[in-house]
Amino acid sequence: MSDAPDGPTGPGPDRAANREGAPSSSYNNIILTGFMGTGKSTVGRLLAQRLDLQHVDTDKMIERRHGPIPRIFEEQGEDGFREIERAIAVELTTDVGFVISTGGRFMLDPANVAALHEGNRVFCLVAELDVIMDRVMNRRSSRPLLAGKDPRARVEELLQQRADGYAQFESVPTDQRPPSSVVSDIISRL
Ligand code: S3P
Repeated sequence: MSDAPDGPTGPGPDRAANREGAPSSSYNNIILTGFMGTGKSTVGRLLAQRLDLQHVDTDKMIERRHGPIPRIFEEQGEDGFREIERAIAVELTTDVGFVISTGGRFMLDPANVAALHEGNRVFCLVAELDVIMDRVMNRRSSRPLLAGKDPRARVEELLQQRADGYAQFESVPTDQRPPSSVVSDIISRL
């Protein structure tokens, strides 16, 4: 069981799906992946509220336990951060009835996918480069991977490197629409 979920305590996905009029499903949790700035945290929180599920955000879990992400990168390197993510993935395998918002590379780590793909429904939130840039530049200081001189070039590079990884999951567009509409889209697919 993960610690201190962000959302209300609630029933599992079955009742939640029924509440929205969708057919009941047999997965344990809904996992949101996608690049930085695609809205995983905001959409996850709203989706959990709408479905009456609990919400957990892997970056927030990590920060509660280990401090700010930029400091983890500084002190333990990116490898240290990825190790922490892997430990979190193992913990999450016992959770049921959660919407799980993950960090941008969390579900691209084969160990985390192996731990979490089975029994869970995964959606990948996607956005165009310009939209991602608008969104990430607001909170750039909290994203150590974008700390260099040319964040746009870095985002393009990472998007290219990760394209195949993200493509393995069902994608949900987030451009030109509010989080509530993304949530409705996801619910309509359950
Ligand atoms: C990362 C994304 C971040 C955070 C960390 C690394 C990545 O999460 O996990 O800075 O490698 O894409 P968000 O996608 O929530 O910004």
